[in-house]
Amino acid sequence: MPLKQEHRFRSLALTAVAAAAFSVVGFVESTPAYAKTSDTQPQALTASAVAVADKYAADTAEQIFRQGGNAVDAAVAIAFTLAVTYPEAGNIGGGGFMTLYVDHRPYFLDYRERAPMSATRNMYLDDKGEVIKGMSLYGHRAVGVPGTVDGMWEAQKRFGKLKWKQVLAPAIKYAENGFVVDDQLIERRDRAAKDFAGKTNFDLYFGSMKAGQTFKQPDLADTLQRISDKGAKGFYQGKTADLIATSMTGHGLITARDLKEYKAVWRQPVVASWNGYRVITAPPPSSGGIGLVQLLKMKADLKDKFDGVPLDSAQYIHLVAEIEKRVFADRAQYLGDPDFYKVPVAQLIDDDYILKRAQEVNPETPSDTKSVQPGLGTSMPEKAETTHFSVVDKWGNAVSNTYTINGYFGSGVIAEGTGVVLNDEMDDFSAKPGVANMFGVVGSDANAIAPRKRPLSSMTPTILTKDDKVAMVIGTPGGSRIFTSIFQVLSNVYDFQMPLAEAVGATRFHHQLLPPNTIFQEPFHQLDPDVVKQLEDKGYKFSMQGFNGDIQAIRIDDTTPQPMSDPRGRGVSRVIQ
Ligand code: DON
Repeated sequence: MPLKQEHRFRSLALTAVAAAAFSVVGFVESTPAYAKTSDTQPQALTASAVAVADKYAADTAEQIFRQGGNAVDAAVAIAFTLAVTYPEAGNIGGGGFMTLYVDHRPYFLDYRERAPMSATRNMYLDDKGEVIKGMSLYGHRAVGVPGTVDGMWEAQKRFGKLKWKQVLAPAIKYAENGFVVDDQLIERRDRAAKDFAGKTNFDLYFGSMKAGQTFKQPDLADTLQRISDKGAKGFYQGKTADLIATSMTGHGLITARDLKEYKAVWRQPVVASWNGYRVITAPPPSSGGIGLVQLLKMKADLKDKFDGVPLDSAQYIHLVAEIEKRVFADRAQYLGDPDFYKVPVAQLIDDDYILKRAQEVNPETPSDTKSVQPGLGTSMPEKAETTHFSVVDKWGNAVSNTYTINGYFGSGVIAEGTGVVLNDEMDDFSAKPGVANMFGVVGSDANAIAPRKRPLSSMTPTILTKDDKVAMVIGTPGGSRIFTSIFQVLSNVYDFQMPLAEAVGATRFHHQLLPPNTIFQEPFHQLDPDVVKQLEDKGYKFSMQGFNGDIQAIRIDDTTPQPMSDPRGRGVSRVIQ
């Protein structure tokens, strides 16, 4: 996508040189400049392409590209469409992260939810200091202030080519006229309905949804229309905001002021060199980018140990689990919202530090869990305070976007009169140090609850470039499995030279330090029983997890995009000429 404001990028180039000198953290423009762009640049790729969570989102992207939109227009239109047609995770009632590569420059947009202003550190604890089960997961008190609409508004007004109304139009159509409901959506609805029974108004909105039938969402259509007419203010102020705040009265914490003061933030993405590629990925408040870089680099540092070790062999799984132990020890200790804690990003992805951590890996047997401590020392950091889609356009721009309402259908609360499914992102905070959240991960003070703070995430929308051209756009849902899944797919593609379809479809497994020596495997592809036995003999335990990601990836070899959706989900990938 061509950009008119070249002066803007000249000053950026200097920042880029300075950042390259440190070679650990990339750069991003912090001064917003919001002029629209024009279409004068020659085509860089043979076509545009998307890998998205459902077919409606792929149709939306096709419509946007045909209207002359770029990757950012398509991404924003996809995000609004999935809020209608993929209500278990697509959203306007949640938040997320967008990693962009526009005119050969990386950007990162944080539109993660924030804790309401009246949130308190111990809000999920009883009078004995114990975590009240389910309180951060279901119902109004689980909800963080949603960021998606402001995120989409920021991205589109900065980089989009089309009119705002054009990117909202497909979503409004699906909400008004309905869409045909998929079996997988019904399965997920039924499971969620059991969790929400008697606690939320979930049934009122989604109880009537039937597989194979058209489902309309008139309240949501009206909300989207207000957003179309008024921009982000159509959500954060006026009727929508009033309805959300009213639905909270007497139940939850979010006020009209919380909504009015929400702001998405442009941040520096994490940028690292790996295997001849530049990896552009999510910084805090995500743990995912740091985790991904640590995994990729530790594996590269242990090349002599991995050489000749077949994928899915007991030795491979052991070595990866050893690396993962170290990554999750750091995650639990150091990571939180960078606006509240000074997260030592550069130190955590420093090559020498990662090498030192790699050298602690025991190639023979599982390291004792207690002995695996955070690697920068145990002191607290200095106080300073999910569906994924991948898009490339024919101009060579890319968007990698992961956004979430956390669990399927979030908190199960639909703000009355709006059709907006509200998130349960507050569960991503550490309700109490050392007590695991929904994904079994623990946290420290760095991720304690505080007003306006963003909970720590694992979402890892990632772009790889080579010679300043996009080579891969990738991401997935999956909570703490997100960056271990992306790591495995990247390793399959670039270390094992698998075609993308095979790399995405291959078995995935997961270890996260706690529970001790436990390896999670997936029903989709179970590990070979002999391999399981060998690992059990080493002291590992196995646990089955219901869900292991829904990768949406686009690989670009030379100028041809090849999109791929995970066979585990109902995603659709499409090349659009
Ligand atoms: O931000 C996070 O890490 C989680 N709230 C993401 C949740 C997720 O991926 C759910 N998908 N299964």
